[in-house]
Amino acid sequence: MNIKKILSKKIHKSMIKAGIPSQYNVILRQCKKIELGHYQINGIISAAISLKKNPNDLANKVVKYLNLKDIISKINISKLGFINLFIKKKWLSKQINLLLTSKKLGLTKKIISENIVVDYSSPNIAKEMHVGHLRSTIIGDSMVKILSFVGHNVIKVNHIGDWGTHFGMIIAFYNYEKKKNSILISDIEKLYTKARKKYSEDIKFATESRSYVVKLQKKDPFCLQIWKKIVNITMNNHYQLYKKLNVELTSKNTMGESIYNDMLPNIITDLKKKGIAINDNGTIIIPLEGLKNKKGKLMAVIIQKKDGAYLYATIDIACIKYRYKIFKAHRIIYYVDSRQSQYLNQIFKIVKKANYVPSNIKLEHHMFGMILNKYNKPFKTREGKNIKLNNLINESIKKSKKIIIKKNPSIKKNKLENLSHIIGIGAIKYADLSKNRINNYVFKWDDMLSLNGNTSLYIQYAYVRAKSILKKVNIDFSNLLDLEIKFVNYSEFKLAITFLDFEEIILKIVDKGTPHLLCNWLYKITVLFSIFYENCKILNLQDDLLKLSRLKIVFLTSLFLKKGLLLLGIKTIKKM
Ligand code: ARG
Repeated sequence: MNIKKILSKKIHKSMIKAGIPSQYNVILRQCKKIELGHYQINGIISAAISLKKNPNDLANKVVKYLNLKDIISKINISKLGFINLFIKKKWLSKQINLLLTSKKLGLTKKIISENIVVDYSSPNIAKEMHVGHLRSTIIGDSMVKILSFVGHNVIKVNHIGDWGTHFGMIIAFYNYEKKKNSILISDIEKLYTKARKKYSEDIKFATESRSYVVKLQKKDPFCLQIWKKIVNITMNNHYQLYKKLNVELTSKNTMGESIYNDMLPNIITDLKKKGIAINDNGTIIIPLEGLKNKKGKLMAVIIQKKDGAYLYATIDIACIKYRYKIFKAHRIIYYVDSRQSQYLNQIFKIVKKANYVPSNIKLEHHMFGMILNKYNKPFKTREGKNIKLNNLINESIKKSKKIIIKKNPSIKKNKLENLSHIIGIGAIKYADLSKNRINNYVFKWDDMLSLNGNTSLYIQYAYVRAKSILKKVNIDFSNLLDLEIKFVNYSEFKLAITFLDFEEIILKIVDKGTPHLLCNWLYKITVLFSIFYENCKILNLQDDLLKLSRLKIVFLTSLFLKKGLLLLGIKTIKKM
């Protein structure tokens, strides 16, 4: 159920009856001060101004037609023309009781299930994952969980960079060093770094490297063998990290750049035939209409080099075609950083122009900003190197351990391991997910591991509190569905009314790919729960009915906190 939608629909009808043209939308928001009302209708004033009417008269007219008897107990109209609505306690109680039996915590809107491909994490092979891979991996993972929760068919894809020109260098260097022993991931990184250095210094080596790219793309057995080895070693490392991070990606979801290789020659032929790609002195390019570079030259996407090698773009074009054809994708979402925005939009235009996907298929780049240090510079090691993701996670777990030991010095070792893992990983994820993804953000250990404020720990702790209350009574709430919820303290009412925003928040995220809205909402619930907990006696109450009513609120809070964190990929703790 979506309380704002229910109200807005009815309000819109009465606005039309009051003579306001239908293009005027209802603007409805929760009142800041509960004494003034629960919801406020805005927008009547601006409508009155543009229609040259008196705002208060118009507001009165709208209210006259308002048919909200079941939901609203009182309506106040301010002199200026604001309309404030008070929700009926009885109605709210009924809605809250309905939540107790709802399979999806009040998410009742029937959605048309779509096949949604989510392209996320997608690291390049031959390197360990670093901090730069964090955002795509965890935002993508949370979105996968949320899209599946509402009922979409989600296809998770890890589009690993296993087919780029860097393999040419690596194979050439490997061959050059004749290292035939089994290699460790750290060796591969070293190998890659050395290969890159040689590539930039040695023209002969660079030419040789490029020839290996073409050889690999033509499936030369020697090249394939080294390539496979490198991919396997790197990916096994990544899978361990995903597991540690509680991210759903496994080998089943890995569909790297290499698998589209056989499609590429036909793509080139077809794009040329359609007049979309042209031969520019041996290089195959797609000119971009209307786009010029700084020198005023028309811009183009290269899809095949003179030596025959295909590029990142060629693969992405083939890949979209594949995802549409094989997965029957209705929507493809890319969690890739904002630097690739122009690139991806060009690819989206090309595949539509080439008719590889119909125009109604949604191709979306859900971009995100960078992680910065406290000096607003890219977050790197002191030596200016990329911070390895594994090191960052370990650091967070270590810091969490210190916090736990400080609170509970006698904690058992295996409990400490488990708790610090959940808290440490939760903190990193939440700090990231709670920021609007399109912006850069500053990484701050102290803020993310605080017990107060908008952090995972604050929410996890509230969950522990709720659970410990519930444990003391052990009630099956499904037997108490008819028992009315009592709203004695204002905090009970506010909490209850905020529960009803869940559907609206979730559907917004499904549409826009913005899990920070869920974080904000969970934070709001947690703050309201703390106020409720401070203001209201729960277990030590004489009035049994009030006690049960309050316990219901505690129970629902625990359900929402658990589900909310789960959708963010963060685990809860029962006891701290
Ligand atoms: N491997 C790429 C990188 O590290 C990201 C791939 C994103 N997905 C895609 N289909 N282009 O930059």
